[in-house]
Amino acid sequence: MRAMITGITGQDGSYLAEFLLERGYEVGGVVRRSSSERFDRIDAIRDSVTIFQADIHDQTSMISALREFRPHELYHLAAQSFVPTSWAQPVLTGEFTGLGVTRALEAVRQVDPSIKFYQASSSEMFGKVQEIPQTERTPFWPRSPYGVAKVYGHWITVNYRESYGIFAASGILFNHESPRRGLEFVTRKISRTVAKIALGRAEELRLGNLDARRDWGFAGDYVKAMWLMLQQDKPEDYVIATGETHSVREFAERAFARVGLDWEKYVVVDPALYRPAEVDQLIGDAGKAREKLGWTPEVSFDELVNLMVDADVAALERETCES
Ligand code: NAP
Ligand code: GDD
Repeated sequence: MRAMITGITGQDGSYLAEFLLERGYEVGGVVRRSSSERFDRIDAIRDSVTIFQADIHDQTSMISALREFRPHELYHLAAQSFVPTSWAQPVLTGEFTGLGVTRALEAVRQVDPSIKFYQASSSEMFGKVQEIPQTERTPFWPRSPYGVAKVYGHWITVNYRESYGIFAASGILFNHESPRRGLEFVTRKISRTVAKIALGRAEELRLGNLDARRDWGFAGDYVKAMWLMLQQDKPEDYVIATGETHSVREFAERAFARVGLDWEKYVVVDPALYRPAEVDQLIGDAGKAREKLGWTPEVSFDELVNLMVDADVAALERETCES
């Protein structure tokens, strides 16, 4: 089997590539051109995957990549994925995160409509939540240009399934984290800064809204759900979540506790980090995924916080030894 991943250099792309390689897949990755290569997340598997230079902003390059590799499955993960940037760059976010999905689907339709397609939809689509917990049937009310673009991506996926009979599945994934998470996302910002403070290299942690609540899981668990969705008889949409919600404050408290520190002595609230419109609370019901895919998360909230803090402490200690 051959699987192609857009966004292979991102957090999820790297875990998914490893997961598929372990299952004997030949893996192709779509990477956009850059003046410097950013392959750190896939360093360990770089020689086991085939890289194609393409951009989700460019239809021709997407078609060429698919034509060359001829995958059986396409996992479309590439996006502008940082919510605050979507207010600063709303048009680019619409192009990449929204219309990029149409370009990926069009490439499938034109090259080989039997390619199975996975769309990385998001719990950000629920935004101002209309129901607690959120399920596949909960109406969307996005609260950021990113969320709006993801709603478009979700519905165009459903539309290509209904219009052309493409096996297109949309995974509505709640927040998932790992030591490979980008440094600007709140969990990694916390784990990295806590590690620095523990090692005497930083004095404070500046955060925005401490009351925001998220349903946080481990990225390694979530990529398995993506794959399971494409192994079913019928393409459907699934919520992937832990069913637990925790505040940013709780995440910070737990992370400082891991290194034996009191969070209240180090966390500074910075109003500049508040968002123009906030998603106050997310909590998903993954009952359908449990029942139909046999999927359940394996890493708990406490385990996630601990593994992220431990990884950042170890990485910083390694950097010290090397310098
Ligand atoms: P990420 O770490 O930000 O990775 C995004 C990937 O997209 C990177 O590989 C990036 O490449 C690539 N990309 C961005 N613009 C591109 C373009 N124009 N052409 C080609 N590639 C481009 O995101 P992630 O956390 O792995 O998330 C993966 C997907 O799941 C995203 O669509 C995200 O919106 C969605 N999602 C994530 C979560 C979550 O909690 N992580 C939850 C729900 C949905 P560079 O390396 O060149 O930047
Ligand atoms: N990034 C960040 N930085 N967030 C902060 C901070 C801070 O200093 N302080 C508080 N927060 C709050 C944000 O206001 C938000 O409510 C919450 O922490 C989580 O923010 P992020 O970690 O940036 O993630 P997100 O929930 O906005 O978006 C992530 O999850 C989505 C799924 O729900 C991204 O991965 C999206 O791509 C993904 O779709």
